[in-house]
Amino acid sequence: KERRLILAVESSCDETSVAVVEDGNQILSNIVASQIPSHQRFGGVVPEVASRHHVEQITLCMKEALTQAEVTPADLSGVAVTYGPGLVGALLVGISAAKAFSFAHDLPLIPINHMAGHIYAAQFVEDFQFPLMALLVSGGHTELVYMKEHGSYEVIGETRDDAAGEAYDKVGRVLGLPYPSGKKIDEMAHEGEDTYHFPRAMLKEDNYDFSFSGLKSSVINTVHNAEQRGEEIRPFDLATSFQASVVEVLVTKTLRACKDYQVKQLVIAGGVAANKGLRQGLELGLKEQQPEVSLIQPPLKLCGDNAAMIGACAFYESQKEQLADMYLNAEPSLIF
Ligand code: KG4
Ligand code: ZN
Repeated sequence: KERRLILAVESSCDETSVAVVEDGNQILSNIVASQIPSHQRFGGVVPEVASRHHVEQITLCMKEALTQAEVTPADLSGVAVTYGPGLVGALLVGISAAKAFSFAHDLPLIPINHMAGHIYAAQFVEDFQFPLMALLVSGGHTELVYMKEHGSYEVIGETRDDAAGEAYDKVGRVLGLPYPSGKKIDEMAHEGEDTYHFPRAMLKEDNYDFSFSGLKSSVINTVHNAEQRGEEIRPFDLATSFQASVVEVLVTKTLRACKDYQVKQLVIAGGVAANKGLRQGLELGLKEQQPEVSLIQPPLKLCGDNAAMIGACAFYESQKEQLADMYLNAEPSLIF
């Protein structure tokens, strides 16, 4: 059987990434050039700095991805690229590079939604069985997505305000941690106790939506009030209490969605899916309440932004009739 190789390009935020993926489930190469150190001193991603880095890195990453995979453009059957959501200037760099590559080598251009890409990181672990539920938790998004087949996405719940990752990063900032701080807070959370008891927003409401801005404000106010009174805070307990609140809400609503929609699999995706507390909470919850649902947890390095996940998604998208032409543009606010 002929193998189908896709060159995938991702540049929606602060990682420039190019991958070669075989048949949607094998990574031949996955080059990720992170810009995090350049943004750290600003405490967040600076869009213009991101675009400039992408321009410098993108072709180097393409070359490296082909070399590592030991393939030439002639071996490829398509070029996939993230066209949204994300930072417009950052997206345009990847799109321009992918277009040029597809034009030069006469390859079909496959436009990919970044969030769909995150879900498909799980394809490297196990084949999807439908219907499935995906919990998408990243720096910009918090969504529950129901899929009844490949390429079909129904957002059944989402955050009303901040994304989960955004809350982690803002809490990290008041604790004086470098950006992005999700991973560090996760580590700290395993060393403290839930002594602050923050509220669990929207836990009892009969929907699948989330809200994290109230929790974020509670944590920030706790720190500021302590400072004003000249009292010490307990940073490890603060991390534990914050994470306990985030995890309880995410786990409870996700399990409820899995039950109501009778899914076969639960996929976790996005940067926050790397969270140990969340993984443990979902594992335990499913084991106790819905052992028939299997949990697919992508390896940590595939939870953050990378092009391999874009290549996996593109394998299925490329089977659709409608691909992109040379007019493809960035869609910064793309939704499912
Ligand atoms: O998916 P991603 O790499 O980029 C976006 O598309 O947003 O997600 C990045 C987010 C950041 O907010 C980061 O703090 C968070 O994921 N993150 C974590 C963990 N690792 C990364 N949050 C909680 N626990 C972690 N272990
Ligand atoms: Zn992402």
